[in-house]
Amino acid sequence: SAAEKGGYDYFMLKEIAEQPKAVADTLLGRIGASGELTLDEIRIPAAELREATKVVIVACGTAFHAGLIAKYAIEHWTRVPCEVELASEFRYRDPILDQRTLVVAVSQSGETMDTLMALRHAREQGARVLAICNTNGSTIPRESDAVLYTHAGPEVAVASTKAFLTQVAACYLLALYLGQVRGTQWGDEIRAVVRDLAQIAGQVERVLATMEPVRELARSLAGKDTVLFLGRHVGYPVALEGALKLKELAYMHAEGFAAGELKHGPIALIEEDLPVVVVVPSPRGRSVLHGKIVSNIQEIRARGARTIVIAEEGDEAVVPYADHLVRIPATPTLLQPMVAAVPLQVFACELATARGNEVDQPRNLAKSVTVE
Ligand code: G6P
Repeated sequence: SAAEKGGYDYFMLKEIAEQPKAVADTLLGRIGASGELTLDEIRIPAAELREATKVVIVACGTAFHAGLIAKYAIEHWTRVPCEVELASEFRYRDPILDQRTLVVAVSQSGETMDTLMALRHAREQGARVLAICNTNGSTIPRESDAVLYTHAGPEVAVASTKAFLTQVAACYLLALYLGQVRGTQWGDEIRAVVRDLAQIAGQVERVLATMEPVRELARSLAGKDTVLFLGRHVGYPVALEGALKLKELAYMHAEGFAAGELKHGPIALIEEDLPVVVVVPSPRGRSVLHGKIVSNIQEIRARGARTIVIAEEGDEAVVPYADHLVRIPATPTLLQPMVAAVPLQVFACELATARGNEVDQPRNLAKSVTVE
């Protein structure tokens, strides 16, 4: 009913709007006043977390993209090797697991069969399993050694939005906590990031307040067949997620690429007026990457692409090459997905609406897939 949708036309719009609160609730009580993390629910003893030799993340769909982002954070902040794998592929390739492997199962519903089977396999091999989940008491947390709940609240729309943002937030908490427990060389950076993370919900709010031009752009592209998404570093999983949202909702051909791979194939797809969304890393932080992606934007634009550039406020280098420029607040490099993913959700939702699609219940999809 309209009341359930809180005055919005679709649950998805309501859930997109709820993201600042969902993220704030997920961080609430977990970041102490002096920047230390308290994650008591991770009942795996600190000694075991210190001795873990590898983290393996298993998930499906949007949750898999959260896992890809987590890998960058975990490896950078903790120096523990981290693999991310589609849950449906994981157990069939005989993965190498033991008591010192920490397996992290990321699932909004906690009922996805592929993810559940992956975690059962991991436990049989003696690995420790931590669930990152949005649904209290669901199967995946019940079968895990510990659970870090996301507090997104119930998500009704099939295409995940607020659950995704909270999964990413929970992954940062886990990465920072592992760093804290293990006392890595990045102590100062970790403390600074924790401070910035506490600001992120407000930044998501600011992005949401500036989305009208993105909706307008989406409507203008309703007649297109294909949209490509490019990103680097944590912008790469954001590009994959942007493309997935468009497939799910707009039923369009959409693909995400690592921008560095462009020259190894995808650039052949570029033709006159093809919309290409580019997620640009901060020009501060990893500035080498920034320069490379600016070159990529120039290359595709020279070949006729219509460039839709998502870039940090104050990034002037992209301005000459952006047919459409979407500004996002400055964040530390690793936190950028929290603000960069939001315009892509809004874009897909509006494009789907413009094409007359059922936004909350896309064809052929289920919110929770309980078969393998
Ligand atoms: C289904 C949904 C996706 C979701 C995936 C994983 O395919 O349509 O939106 O990302 O399952 O769901 P989970 O509940 O495990 O996060």
